[in-house]
Amino acid sequence: MMLFLRRFSGPTSIFCCFIYCTLQLTRCNVLLADVHEGNLSATISECRRIAPFDVSIEATICDVTNKSQVRCAVQKADDLALVNSNCAAAKASILVNSAGITKDAKISNLSDADWDNVLGVNLKGTFLMCQAFCNPDRLANMGDCLGGSIINIGSIVSKCGNIGQVNYASSKGGVVGLTRSLAKEMASLSLRSSNETIPIIRVNCIQPGMIYVSSKIRNYFLHPKHSYNDGLIPSNVVLSF
Ligand SMILES: NC(=O)c1ccc[n+]([C@@H]2O[C@H](COP(=O)([O-])OP(=O)(O)OC[C@H]3O[C@@H](n4cnc5c(N)ncnc54)[C@H](O)[C@@H]3O)[C@@H](O)[C@H]2O)c1
Repeated sequence: MMLFLRRFSGPTSIFCCFIYCTLQLTRCNVLLADVHEGNLSATISECRRIAPFDVSIEATICDVTNKSQVRCAVQKADDLALVNSNCAAAKASILVNSAGITKDAKISNLSDADWDNVLGVNLKGTFLMCQAFCNPDRLANMGDCLGGSIINIGSIVSKCGNIGQVNYASSKGGVVGLTRSLAKEMASLSLRSSNETIPIIRVNCIQPGMIYVSSKIRNYFLHPKHSYNDGLIPSNVVLSF
């Protein structure tokens, strides 16, 4: 499926765009998790504004590089999943790993700290979130509620490279390898019905191109005079999944 940013009435980050699509399609309750309080409150207001009226949007502070905070966030998401659910074993069923940072520098100037931070948030953070989500205790009951899905946010930069982004490109390449391997692990734990086999957790990765997210650029998009292909805006301004 491809969804063009121009169709959105307001989301200003990839995550909000993604939430918007997911909410419209699934009407799931959502738990937002972010390490920065300011970003979290901005995202929660935006998500509440774009969410259907019957969807609950909650938030929690969570550093994805901190194992205990990650476990706590997944537990909170599971608690939220039980609200208004008919299934006593309900668990959070969709995980979107969107937390990401950049610390750009050409390799000669790239500090160990900027390498470690980017790999820590983008790759280890994704690993810790996936590990908590795929905990065997959670998976034990997942099948009763039709399984779940992990969507990792990678980047086109891991495919084509970019000057000044060896740390970022490496982290996002790692996310692809993690995704492929975990998808195979989860495929070995499948729900079997009479005519099909479905992984308990489907694991996929989106690799977007550059997406402008500021309100200035959003307003530019929304202006009727402008189009995507006028030379100023990259033509790959789409979310595809
Ligand atoms: N914007 C683009 O052009 C683009 C292109 C390709 C891929 N991506 C990827 O998409 C994802 C979202 O991008 P965006 O443009 O919406 O970024 P964004 O900066 O708007 O959002 C990233 C969020 O991650 C949070 N975060 C940072 N460190 C964290 C941590 N340790 N724990 C928890 N949260 C943390 C930040 O507070 C921020 O709110 C990122 O993974 C990014 O690498 C973005």
